[in-house]
Amino acid sequence: MRRPVIAGNWKMHKTRAETREFFDAFKPLISNINHCEIIVAPPFTSLSVAADSARGSSVRIAAQDMHWEREGAFTGAISAAMIVDAGCRAVILGHSERRRYFGETDATVNRKLKAALAAKLQPIVCVGETLDEREAGRTERVLESQFIGASDTLTPEEFSRILLAYEPVWAIGTGRTATPETASESHAYLRRLAEQSFGEESASGLRILYGGSVRPDNIASLMAQREIDGALVGGASLDPQTFFSILNFKQRSS
Ligand code: 13P
Repeated sequence: MRRPVIAGNWKMHKTRAETREFFDAFKPLISNINHCEIIVAPPFTSLSVAADSARGSSVRIAAQDMHWEREGAFTGAISAAMIVDAGCRAVILGHSERRRYFGETDATVNRKLKAALAAKLQPIVCVGETLDEREAGRTERVLESQFIGASDTLTPEEFSRILLAYEPVWAIGTGRTATPETASESHAYLRRLAEQSFGEESASGLRILYGGSVRPDNIASLMAQREIDGALVGGASLDPQTFFSILNFKQRSS
């Protein structure tokens, strides 16, 4: 049984004061939630405030990116050791916005992934096709090259510590969610790739989150799919009540 994970990616939102306000409202809401793991990924400047604010709750804090080197002359970069020091337990890697706007490649995702695992962080590795790629019938090829490019050099033990996020680029911030069936097909394909690379046991334990316009009104149908093990939520994770409505999917659907 794969335990669901609901993760919020705040992207470039919230000051430290706004982060505190979020957790003041959010913590009481989730005090009885135990059917899923909860992760919140604030921007770098709010990481330590988020970690302090989340103390005593089940929320784990993630960074949205990191550099692969431990330290050095890399202006503007933040290392795994630094985000661990700020209170992080996880890190998002290879988000499509990093690929699109900041030159992230499968090769840099792979280096970051190795460094994150060495620092005992849980990586959330993002993959997903653009609309052009989907319309050209290239979805599987894109997912394969992103999956293999990122995970190529991992051992099965290392692989067992990662979370994978399928985020079709055309569904991010567009209000156009993948149907549960479309998302499920891609998840099943990614699981087959995992099986080919790391074996049946690793593949069946792998948790694959869906991301792209997840909202309170579509989470239940997504989570009803056997292949969907959680969600990576952008815009709808910024408001404590809305994010709570999403992670409370189980109670709402029963
Ligand atoms: P939205 O939920 O705002 O579409 O963003 C999804 C995402 O990119 C999460 O990483």
